[in-house]
Amino acid sequence: MIPGPRITVLGTGYLGATHAVCMAELGFDVVGMDVDEAKIAKLASGEVPFFEPGLPELLAKNLDTGRLRFTTSYDEAAAHGDVHFVCVGTPSKPGEMAADLSYVDAVMDGLLPRLSRPCLVVGKSTVPAGTAARLAERIAQEAPAGVELAWNPEFLREGFAIEDTLTPDRLVFGVASAEAEATLRSVYAPIIDAGAPVVVMGFATAELAKVAANAFLATKISFINAMAEVCEATGADVTLLSKALSYDDRIGGRFLNAGLGFGGGCLPKDMRAFMARAGELGVDQALSFLREVDAINLRRRARMVDLAAELVGGSFGGMRVAVLGAAFKPDSDDIRDSPALDVAATIQRRGAAVCVYDPAAMDNAKRDYPTLGYRDSALEAAKGADLVLHLTEWAEFREMDPEALGSVVSSRQIVDGRNALDPELWRAAGWVYRALGRP
Ligand code: UDX
Repeated sequence: MIPGPRITVLGTGYLGATHAVCMAELGFDVVGMDVDEAKIAKLASGEVPFFEPGLPELLAKNLDTGRLRFTTSYDEAAAHGDVHFVCVGTPSKPGEMAADLSYVDAVMDGLLPRLSRPCLVVGKSTVPAGTAARLAERIAQEAPAGVELAWNPEFLREGFAIEDTLTPDRLVFGVASAEAEATLRSVYAPIIDAGAPVVVMGFATAELAKVAANAFLATKISFINAMAEVCEATGADVTLLSKALSYDDRIGGRFLNAGLGFGGGCLPKDMRAFMARAGELGVDQALSFLREVDAINLRRRARMVDLAAELVGGSFGGMRVAVLGAAFKPDSDDIRDSPALDVAATIQRRGAAVCVYDPAAMDNAKRDYPTLGYRDSALEAAKGADLVLHLTEWAEFREMDPEALGSVVSSRQIVDGRNALDPELWRAAGWVYRALGRP
């Protein structure tokens, strides 16, 4: 164990579990705390409750060292930590665009009265600008002297969570004092020494750094998807257009893949919460373009349904449709706001018999979409299908043999919702290959 601050991580969902494991990996003495007993029991026994490549191995390794423990006790967390990372979720409020901060406040309710010595409380959750200032006020009122707040947003991507935590593009420190900055620098010393840039700023800027990054990424995806709409009207090919744009260093090729658009637990809800907060701040006009970003994104799903309908002759009644992919992106079992399941459910509502297969997200999909049909492999899902929809670009699907799939379907028709398959290969095997934004 390295000398240095003792660390707690409050909230052990996607972000918190990854952060706790990675802090232990850096050599710190870490306690992960969550009010969800089932989640804590799993983590303590070495089981990661979600799909993240590499995390189970790293969890097991760090549990073995004794540097990493899990608890449901606020008393234990409060007593342990010199630095308390707040990693709870900030979902949308039911029926609203604004973020629900009740979990963040619940952590403060649990932690602050139990603190008995100076420490740093570090927010990592994605919150509306102004939240940290309010929480700092709460700390001043409710915690002992010497307890301070910092805001240190997290930019991790599902599927790359470990890499993004241990070798981040940048570290953002929102602080109100030189001491808080020094503490954060000591926690992240190995990462900073390895070259990660640190940008130090105030609370509001740090809060905005996260939501602005997500808004930009969403905008970039919707930009190319808007181009896809124009491509569809002109017979142009959005994948080649994207390639041509990507060689311009000022634009760059990442997040420029046209297709079914974005989903997941972050981009859609963070963008909407950002708009809601801008409205409260009286600058809603500044972010009105994000409404368009959202609308373009949702239109891709509608276009996919229309294209599918066209291929089955206009009506889904009596048709069998195979859906490959349920997760919102590959290498994840997350189905939050999944474009794939949204499309699958719409097509089923319009009369098709839908069979879904996903390499990792089946359990989650069955839980939230119990009326869809599910099969244990792509071939099983495609048996007798009048149409195959490729909606999440898992490597397993990209590497599919068009002949093998063709031998089980009733009609060789596929829509590639992610522009990830090779059209020539599929057409050569006798498939009608269609894609979004391509002739
Ligand atoms: C995102 C941000 O990338 C991350 O920095 C932040 O911390 C949390 O939100 P994540 O939700 O894991 O991470 O997914 P990401 O890899 O960003 O993909 C988001 C969605 O955009 C997926 O549905 C993906 O399929 C889609 N996407 C991505 C595209 O449609 N086109 C692209 O070019 C890139």
